[in-house]
Amino acid sequence: MSQGTIYEVLQEDHRAVSELIQQALASTDDEERDDLIAQIAEELTAHSEAESQTFYAALREHPETQQLVDDAEREHQDVTMLLDELDQVDDEDAVEQGIRRLKQLVEHHVQEEESEIFESARTVLGEEEAREIARRFEEEKGERMGDGLAGDELADEEDFVAE
Ligand SMILES: [Fe+2]
Ligand SMILES: [Fe+2]
Repeated sequence: MSQGTIYEVLQEDHRAVSELIQQALASTDDEERDDLIAQIAEELTAHSEAESQTFYAALREHPETQQLVDDAEREHQDVTMLLDELDQVDDEDAVEQGIRRLKQLVEHHVQEEESEIFESARTVLGEEEAREIARRFEEEKGERMGDGLAGDELADEEDFVAE
């Protein structure tokens, strides 16, 4: 994991959150669904912030990729707003609609990120830089996840964190 590039690490995260969204949609138990939504919110927030601070920040340094990053940040904001709304609704139909809307937004964003953004990023970032950004991404994300998975993964990287 620590040897991966930022592309691999982000892709793995994207799959994990899609899986959680699927589970939330499939869930017939209100309490379980609320738990899943809380997990999704924590995961998406940590992912987006860490991504913005490491991967997007690196792309901002290149004029070719600035516009793509601006658009992507706007989509992150849309997701954040929707998560806030979801947090405030109680009505079960509204919750379900919110999750469906979240699924659409996330799928759209991930699709663009993994195609356009990754392709452009590969033209401005070298292989070693892409690995270094992955390490910093995991560190930033780990700091934002209370006791979640990323925290455990981070513990495997003590050498890096300690430096
Ligand atoms: Fe992402
Ligand atoms: Fe993103």
